Amino acid sequence: MEERIVSGTAEMNELYEEQSLRPQTLKQYIGQEQVKNNLAIFIEAARQRGETLDHVLLYGPPGLGKTTLAAVIANEMGVQMRTTSGPAIERPGDLAAVLTALEPGDVLFIDEIHRLPRSIEEVLYPAMEDFCLDIVIGKGPSARSVRLDLPPFTLIGATTRAGSLSAPLRDRFGVLSRLEYYSEEQLTDVVMRTADIFETAIDPVGAGEIARRSRGTPRIANRLLKRVRDYAQVRGNGTITYDVAEEALELLQVDRMGLDHIDHKLLKAIIERFRGGPVGIETIAASIGEESGTIEDVYEPYLLQIGFLQRTPRGRIVSGLVYRHFQMEVPAE
Ligand SMILES: Nc1ncnc2c1ncn2[C@@H]1O[C@H](COP(=O)(O)OP(=O)(O)OP(=O)(O)O)[C@@H](O)[C@H]1O
Ligand SMILES: [Mg+2]
Repeated sequence: MEERIVSGTAEMNELYEEQSLRPQTLKQYIGQEQVKNNLAIFIEAARQRGETLDHVLLYGPPGLGKTTLAAVIANEMGVQMRTTSGPAIERPGDLAAVLTALEPGDVLFIDEIHRLPRSIEEVLYPAMEDFCLDIVIGKGPSARSVRLDLPPFTLIGATTRAGSLSAPLRDRFGVLSRLEYYSEEQLTDVVMRTADIFETAIDPVGAGEIARRSRGTPRIANRLLKRVRDYAQVRGNGTITYDVAEEALELLQVDRMGLDHIDHKLLKAIIERFRGGPVGIETIAASIGEESGTIEDVYEPYLLQIGFLQRTPRGRIVSGLVYRHFQMEVPAE
């Protein structure tokens, strides 16, 4: 699959770079007001009682700020955060090693928690419920189970696919928080904040144009800002204005809705070859030479979110918005 500038998933070099851009406190964390308001109360209450925070599950599309929010929670609780991920834990011993290294009150962050093997989940249940670990020592008839006490801790799980989490695991989280796509205004704040960290001059209208094309996703906003900053430096006087942002993003082939050539290919295929649909996903896949899974997981979610594409029992349909976006005539029913 080719790399897209409008992908919500982090690129290799971004994983490191992002550290410096992450807000540290709930106050600095932009948007997600409902999630933040709830968390602020739970955190305050836990702190007053001198207890650990309930286990928290954060879910939502890539790049919306799950990892960032986990770190913010740990910071607001005044505790350390240890980080691991579903695929990194292969055997029960791996999890035991992580859990026994925790200090009282710590946050354990498990990224991509839906990829935790089922056998490991079972070790996690008593750890989450009773802060203890049942481990089996020895083999065969002489094997015996030993119960180990763990320090109280808060598990924060993150996933892009809450649906693939097993019900018993999901039920063990006291707080379930779904992150939403950001509004243009909120993303404008994200862009202004990041530009400030970069010490890049930007005017709010320029920031707004970057925000508009960032698909509701802070990670994309920051990525586009970096590219526009390069453009401003080389072609302009370094300041990001509306014109500079517009020119740079046109050059990057990110259109006014944040769509790139792949989105265009998909939408135009449905319009031109299937009269706008309905058309089955497999047929679309064959027609543009992509896997149907990729279309469903990667290409479609944002198009569905902005109402450009609709899912019906008879297949996908492009909405009138798409014709207008491409300045095409909306066909009569
Ligand atoms: N609320 C926010 N305010 C400001 N910046 C944010 C916010 N949320 C995310 N960001 C920025 O977006 C970047 C991506 O966020 P983060 O890594 O937390 O996303 P994620 O949901 O964990 O993504 P993934 O699903 O790929 O793990 C961060 O570097 C951070 O700078
Ligand atoms: Mg993350």
